[in-house]
Formats: sequence, structure tokens, C-alpha cells
Amino acid sequence: MGEALKARERSYCPYSNFAVGAALLCADGTVYTGCNIESAASTGCCAERTALFKAVSEGHRDFAAIAVAGAGKGEEPDFFCTPCGVCRQVMTEFCRPDFEILLTDGKEIKCMTLDELLPMAFGPDNLA
Ligand code: THU
Repeated sequence: MGEALKARERSYCPYSNFAVGAALLCADGTVYTGCNIESAASTGCCAERTALFKAVSEGHRDFAAIAVAGAGKGEEPDFFCTPCGVCRQVMTEFCRPDFEILLTDGKEIKCMTLDELLPMAFGPDNLA
């Protein structure tokens, strides 16, 4: 979670002023961080997908867990910031149902699986 909180500091979020950080743990132990990156044309990218796309573009396809922390810019997390639907679907592309998603409200860390956050997901297996 520490890496996700640190990644938040690099968030580019001038439109929402909501800064999110993520830290993705690959099966081989490598960690990729990501922050949300917004644009004037509303074509930004969430922190989770930034981390996933960084990792995939560097050749990683096997992931164990992701930590996510989000809050207003300059504030500390005080609720569990969960991945959006698009990020859950992208996770389904690359991660197994037991992929762990760690969330914090600043007080505790909650661990949920991808299957809990996106039950009955449509994924690559459905096209196999
Ligand atoms: N956001 C993330 O990066 N991850 C989440 O889990 C929730 C939302 C970003 C998208 C946008 O830049 C800002 O937070 C407000 O929605």
C-alpha cells in the first residue's frame, strides 16, 4: 500500500482533483506503480490501468495483486476507493479470479478478489 500512496503523489488530475495511486505486484515479484492521468478531452487513464499497461508493455502477464489508494488531491484516503468498471474488465483480461485487490480507507486495508468485484465476468475464456 505504501507504493500506491507514493504513486498518488504523481497523479495528474487537474479536472477531478481526485488523486489515485496503484501498485501492481507481478507473480515474479516485480512491482509496477501507476497514477491517474487526466486530459482536457476526457480521455484519461485510471491509476490501475496505468500500472497494468506499464507492466504488460514491459512483458508481464502474470499478476498477483494490486493496491489502490484514492482521495482528493492533497488529502488522505478516508474511504475505500474501488477500481472502476473499465479497470475491473481490463483486470479480467490479464488476471485470474483470485487476483487480490487491496484497498485502504486510511485506517485499514481491505482485501477483495477480482471475482468479488466483477462476478460472472466476461473474459478471454469465453472466446476460447
Ligand atoms: N480513478 C482512478 O484512477 N481509479 C479509481 O479506482 C477510481 C477513479 C480516477 C479517474 C479520474 O482521473 C479520477 O479518479 C476521478 O474519477
